[in-house]
Amino acid sequence: MVSGDLSTLNPKQFFAIALILLVLGGWSFFDSFSNVGYAPQQPIPFSHKLHAGTNKIPCLYCHSNAERSRHATIPAMAVCMNCHTVVRTDRPAIQMVTAYYQAGKPMPWIRVHREPDYVYFSHQWHIARGFACQTCHGQVQNMDVIQQSKDLKMGFCISCHRQNKAPTDCNTCHT
Ligand code: HEC
Ligand code: HEC
Ligand code: HEC
Ligand code: HEC
Ligand code: HEC
Repeated sequence: MVSGDLSTLNPKQFFAIALILLVLGGWSFFDSFSNVGYAPQQPIPFSHKLHAGTNKIPCLYCHSNAERSRHATIPAMAVCMNCHTVVRTDRPAIQMVTAYYQAGKPMPWIRVHREPDYVYFSHQWHIARGFACQTCHGQVQNMDVIQQSKDLKMGFCISCHRQNKAPTDCNTCHT
């Protein structure tokens, strides 16, 4: 039971409590949205809008590991070369892709989404259950530059687990 109500507080106590709530609220607001909108500049201007949007290349064509493993992974340069041995070979960005491919090196892409090490997450189960990439990553097919659009924090995971009767005990995601 909550004993008393705000009317029993004197003005000083009332404002002290209001201030504490305001500070806590502001802190958790910024904390929970802190990486939403993160869109680092990548080594070449690779556009999802152009590839997955305009040219309708399926997400899994490039991120096929999402179906079979923990990580979706960024495609190897060889996947790009399926098309770019002929498409737009005159462009500097494509010449860079070709150079990395010939050197047998991956492009140094900058990672955007990342869970802390103490969290266990795997793409495989979620893709197997039929969730669209967009559920967790937003409208990637409209993005010229990839950006994080959902916070991917604990509350986000748990609310979907509750809705779908998936496990919510702590050791599901923390081992
Ligand atoms: C299934 C074919 C296909 C694959 C695979 C593919 N691309 Fe493309 N890419 C295209 C097409 C089509 C265009 C657009 C050409 C146009 O209409 O301007 C394009 C354009 C580009 C451009 C813009 C070039 C410019 O300056 O105009 C870049 C950069 C690029 N691709 C990088 C990549 C990278 C990196 C990969 C591998 C991760 C990749 N592409 C994989 C088909 C593909
Ligand atoms: C032609 C290949 C290609 C296709 C098709 C493609 N991607 Fe990507 N994806 C990439 C490359 C290359 C990167 C790394 C460069 C970047 O971040 O822009 C990437 C990065 C990402 C990232 C960010 C990874 C990180 O660092 O956190 C997400 C999320 C993503 N893709 C989701 C999707 C979704 C969803 C689709 C379908 C709507 C899709 N991709 C289609 C090649 C592709
Ligand atoms: C249920 C939510 C969810 C769905 C659905 C989902 N992802 Fe992710 N994705 C995440 C989370 C969480 C991370 C960060 C994982 C980590 O750091 O271990 C991530 C990371 C990534 C990354 C970068 C790191 C990695 O794992 O390789 C790529 C690329 C990516 N996702 C692509 C995709 C694509 C493509 C799809 C659809 C086929 C997809 N994701 C569906 C939640 C999701
Ligand atoms: C869009 C809904 C959705 C989101 C968002 C989501 N999950 Fe899930 N997750 C599920 C469902 C449904 C299952 C059960 C899959 C099955 O039946 O195998 C599951 C399964 C899991 C499992 C395996 C549980 C087990 O033991 O069977 C783990 C671990 C997990 N999710 C972690 C996460 C984490 C961490 C996040 C947030 C980064 C997350 N999930 C976000 C729907 C979601
Ligand atoms: C469905 C997956 C999932 C479940 C179930 C889950 N967590 Fe988490 N938890 C996460 C993710 C993802 C993060 C990292 C992102 C964040 O900070 O919210 C996290 C972060 C945390 C953190 C660090 C928070 C911070 O701000 O640094 C603590 C503590 C924690 N979880 C405790 C728990 C406890 C206790 C339970 C059981 C009541 C639990 N978790 C159940 C996914 C989960």
